[in-house]
Formats: sequence, structure tokens, C-alpha cells
Amino acid sequence: MVSSSLRIHELCKRYGDFVALAPTSLDVAKGEFLTLLGPSGSGKTTMLSLIAGLAHPDEGRILIDDTDVTHSPAYARDIGVVFQNYALFPHMTIEDNIAFPLKMRKVADAEARRRTAEALETVHLPHVAKRYPRELSGGQQQRIALARCIVYRPAIILMDEPLGALDKKLRDQMQLEIKRIHRELGTTIVYVTHDQEEAMTMSDRICLMNAGAIEQLGTPQDLYFRPRSVFVADFLGESNLLSAIVRRVDGEGLDIVLTEQAAASRAVGNGSRFAAGEPIKVMVRPQNLVVAEAGGGQLSGRITDVMISGSLTRLYIAPETVGLPQLVAAHPTRSGSAPYEIGQRLSLGWHAADAVAIHDGGI
Ligand SMILES: Nc1ncnc2c1ncn2[C@@H]1O[C@H](COP(=O)(O)OP(=O)(O)O)[C@@H](O)[C@H]1O
Ligand SMILES: [Mg+2]
Repeated sequence: MVSSSLRIHELCKRYGDFVALAPTSLDVAKGEFLTLLGPSGSGKTTMLSLIAGLAHPDEGRILIDDTDVTHSPAYARDIGVVFQNYALFPHMTIEDNIAFPLKMRKVADAEARRRTAEALETVHLPHVAKRYPRELSGGQQQRIALARCIVYRPAIILMDEPLGALDKKLRDQMQLEIKRIHRELGTTIVYVTHDQEEAMTMSDRICLMNAGAIEQLGTPQDLYFRPRSVFVADFLGESNLLSAIVRRVDGEGLDIVLTEQAAASRAVGNGSRFAAGEPIKVMVRPQNLVVAEAGGGQLSGRITDVMISGSLTRLYIAPETVGLPQLVAAHPTRSGSAPYEIGQRLSLGWHAADAVAIHDGGI
């Protein structure tokens, strides 16, 4: 098992006046699966290229197992890279494609053959060794690109949207494959995607990027349930966001007043500090919005849409309570008669532990 730790210290990249990556620090543990997640243009590929040595930083340092590689050429970094376009050599057989990095490293023929066969086993495609890339499906080609990367056993693997070109079903399947390979090899992986579900499924930690900087770094659960900003709450899936004012802080618990309704309520913090009097947003995830038939509670609304997407039923709710935004509730779909109808009146609520306070970034 080969794997290395990675340390990025105040790494910065500019193109002319444009800051593609503001000074950024990040530690990736040996064997960790870390995902850089963020919208297009947020600096994910820039960060990955700097780590790989395919671009050079204006400032900062990169350390692999405490060795400074900031100025080392790409080939000397013991890093494997897998891109979205598989970049297989079309005129070479699959086994020659996979053996190519071993040839470059002057590995003896017998050993190269053994390792190539092993890599093909790892990606579950031993039977395609003699074929050419054009004779494989997109998913198979992406597995071969992965095999060509793991065959020389790099201590760190970087993947830039490797599943971006595949359809949804294949992507789901490949996510599991990559996770399995990660478990088997124990290699450190830095993975790039703009797909929040993919990041949530695969990662030990997610580094959410926004405009060339880290917005939040943590476990998928941290980012999903304790977002530090409205940007994070929005990016990590659906959320209901209500305006409120903090009245009192006691540890992680907050007394709040919902701004529009002047209704007293409770919320939990998101790991950062809040002050009495501060205007905040309160996030309630759709699965935590509790709906009950017949309005009568403090908050009420009417169903405007019911969407059943397989396992989940989503209710879109137009508030009757003045000042509430449109809300969404999500619950497991149950077989049998649909209990919800458009126009139906509901009362709305949530448990205090599911109402998360977020500093109001003014969005
Ligand atoms: N070679 C380049 N020259 C000028 N601007 C660049 C170059 N490469 C990237 N950028 C800019 O840097 C920003 C970050 O790009 P990138 O890291 O590719 O984003 P992401 O991978 O998150 O979509 C983008 O606005 C992009 O246009
Ligand atoms: Mg990119």
C-alpha cells in the first residue's frame, strides 16, 4: 500500500490581474479521499494542476510527505492524474496503453506484464487486454484510464471530473468502483467534481471552493448539516432559508425570532460564533420540514406542487404566513394512495435541532 500526505501552504495562482486561486492552505491526510467541489470557474482545476506540477504557483508551497515539491517537475512528484477525457492512445491496445507509464519508467517487460494484468483485474476488465480503445464503451475507457494511473502505484492520485462524460447510471456505478479501488489501494485521492451528490457519496472530506478560495472544508455531514454560509447551504442541495434575529446565545443553542412573523423559536449554531442582535438565516433541510394536515400552527401554507422522484416525494409549499419564502418538504415516498393534494393546507414546523443558524451573507 502506497500513499502520501499532501500539504498545501498559502498556494496562489494569478493570470495577469485575475486571481484564479487566492492564497490557500490545505492538508490532505495519507489515504484520505478529499474532494474539491465548487461551481465552474471556482479554481478546482487550477488547484489540481498546481499539485500535479502542470502549472506553477505565484506563491506558496506544496509538500508531499513533508518534502517540498513546489519546484519539482511533474514526473518527479509520484502523482497520478486522471482527467475527464480518457486520453488513451487510440493506436495502442488496452494492455499497451496501461503498460505505457511502466515503459516510461523502465520497468522490465515481465514485471510490466504482471502489473498490467493486475491493474486490469483491479478495474474488473481482464478480458479487454487485446482490444483497442475504440472497441470499449465510455465507462470501460474511463476504467482503463484509471488502470493506467494505478499501474505505477503513485502515492497520490488526482482526478479531475473523471466521470463528467458518463451518463448517470454509469456514473453511479463508477463512483462505487472508484471507492472500492480507493479502499483496496489506500492511495491518497484528491478528486474534483462540480456535482454535490458525487462529492457527498465519495468523500472523506469535501473542500468547497468559491471564486478561487475555500468556502468551507469538512466532512460531507459537516457541510450538509452545518454550513458556514448561505453559499454552502445552497450548493449542498435543497434548503429552506428563513430570516431571523439572534436574541440569546447559550453554547451551541440560540434563541431566535423569525423576522417576518416575530415568532420566537430555537436554532442550533453551525460551529461559528453568533452575537445577540445579529440578523441570520435559519436553514431547515427539506427532509426536516415537518408538515401536518390542516393549518393551525404558527406557520401554515398550501401545497402548490407534489413531485414524486422515485424514493422521495417533494412538496412545494406556498406560505400563508406573511413573509415566509416558498418552502420545500421532502419525505420518503410510500406506496398506496397519495395523501397530498395541490391546494391542500398544511401547518409547518421543525425541531430546534434541525434549524441551523447561518451568518447572513446578504444573499
Ligand atoms: N490559462 C489560463 N489563463 C487565464 N485564466 C485562466 C487560465 N486557466 C484558468 N483560468 C481562469 O481561472 C478560473 C478558475 O479556473 P479553473 O481552475 O479551471 O476552474 P474550475 O476547474 O473550478 O472550473 C476561471 O475563471 C478560469 O477562466
Ligand atoms: Mg475544472
